[in-house]
Amino acid sequence: TFVVTEACIRCKYTDCVSVCPVDCFHEGPNFLVIDPSGCIDCAVCVPECPVQAITADTQLTPEQQPYLALNAELAALWPVITQAKDPLPDAEHWAQATPKRAELQL
Ligand code: SF4
Ligand code: F3S
Repeated sequence: TFVVTEACIRCKYTDCVSVCPVDCFHEGPNFLVIDPSGCIDCAVCVPECPVQAITADTQLTPEQQPYLALNAELAALWPVITQAKDPLPDAEHWAQATPKRAELQL
């Protein structure tokens, strides 16, 4: 499965969602996740993200590893998103910010 990682937090560009052939992105207040039970590993979403937030589960860094379980957990709670929308207002600022795990809103 592919995994949305920290770089997405407070940016939520949503360029990724419209290309997914199986509609497995789910939207929270300031982050998106991929439903691992839906993802068919096509990888087409990866180059769409302007902040390179999407990574294969096999290529997660140690710091990104917790995002695997987090995507599964939050996908069960959050609604599906299939249409791109405007990024969050301060997306450009937050695209440069790190770490920002503490900014995640549930
Ligand atoms: Fe959707 Fe393909 Fe990305 Fe998985 S890898 S989330 S199936 S676009
Ligand atoms: Fe997030 Fe990148 Fe998609 S910032 S919403 S994973 S395009």
